[in-house]
Amino acid sequence: MTSNSQPESLYSLTHKNLLLGISGGIAAYKCAELVRRFKVLGANVRVVMTDAAREFVTPLTLHALSGNPVYYSLLDADAEAGMGHIELARWADLLLVAPATANTLSRLANGEASDLLSTLALATKAPLILAPAMNQGMWLNAATQKNCRLLRERGAKLLGPAEGEQACGDVGPGRMLEVELLVTAVAAQFETGALAGKKVVITAGPTIEALDPVRFLSNRSSGKMGYALAQAAVDAGARVVLVSGPVSMLPPPHVERIAVESALQMYETVMAQAESADVVIAAAAVADYRPKEFRQQKIKKGGDDCLVLELIKNPDIVASVAQMAGERFVMGFAAETQNVEPFALSKLEHKQLDAIVANDVARADIGFNSDDNAVKIFSKNGEQAVFEKQSKQQIARNIVNWVAKHLPSNDKN
Ligand code: C5P
Repeated sequence: MTSNSQPESLYSLTHKNLLLGISGGIAAYKCAELVRRFKVLGANVRVVMTDAAREFVTPLTLHALSGNPVYYSLLDADAEAGMGHIELARWADLLLVAPATANTLSRLANGEASDLLSTLALATKAPLILAPAMNQGMWLNAATQKNCRLLRERGAKLLGPAEGEQACGDVGPGRMLEVELLVTAVAAQFETGALAGKKVVITAGPTIEALDPVRFLSNRSSGKMGYALAQAAVDAGARVVLVSGPVSMLPPPHVERIAVESALQMYETVMAQAESADVVIAAAAVADYRPKEFRQQKIKKGGDDCLVLELIKNPDIVASVAQMAGERFVMGFAAETQNVEPFALSKLEHKQLDAIVANDVARADIGFNSDDNAVKIFSKNGEQAVFEKQSKQQIARNIVNWVAKHLPSNDKN
């Protein structure tokens, strides 16, 4: 099952920062659809318009479709205070100018910095793609052809123009390439990650189980392993939902974090998110028990030396996900202090997981709160993988690559 039904090659656009420069030609109206397609494919889109472009399509439309403010002035203090032009140039993974009019091609070829778009094209280190659109006579003119040659020599890529009927009534080369061809060509500039197009749900951190308004039961999980997994899954092109108990870390960029506190909240959230997930990785240290009763008022010290708390079992989240209908890859963690392998294998079996990651938390140099880890993966098919002591980031990348290779659709074994 995939969470999306797009051609695989287009998944390379997930999380990419695309800067779309629109210049003033009639084809500018197609940019609304272009922005919409990029967004559907998971790209972040920011739009820059020339003055002429704003005569053809309104910034409001592109603002609404991109979800970001539209930029058009180099000398606007307010816009510069938001994301300045140099910041915007650095933000971009790619600059696409579509439509690129004869005038815009000329200004870019001459290295002008006469407006925001030309300034950005000069300032950015991102690849530049141009989709020319103009009257056929203008396109065939030696001046335009020379500008295109210059731009190509400097590394710009030109897409089109296509031949056909033009808005002015002429027939010939000068039509902007169709949106889908532009999208495919832009996607081809990026590599497709091992989890591109997949939705990955990761649990992380501890849960806290309230006793009264000021006290709770919890455990020593720092959440580092789960957060490193979220980062590695995003880097592999996945859409990642991180269901996290209270930790002191910020979510990695492009990760959707849903903050929860108790095991019951984590359970509800994960069950809802797992419905549409391709992969679920349970790295949270879920409290096995919660107080049977939540006291509305702070518990006072009594005369007795002993306070008895009654605890009840929390639902097993990862085991419940493994029972859900539908096809998804479910991976758990077994943090053990002894008999690591037999305990891990028994959890793999009784929770009915696809795989389990075993780690020895009794070792002082790895595990809880440490920046390093060393793990063994066991799969339900009897496969094993060993990752010796390394940073949690590196372990996470290894686990994510291992998962990607073991997904039913990606099975390379
Ligand atoms: O049974 P144990 O807690 O050792 O199992 C660990 C694995 O099960 C981890 O992947 C953990 O995130 C998951 N788990 C869970 N819900 C629980 C307890 C553990 O998802 N209530």
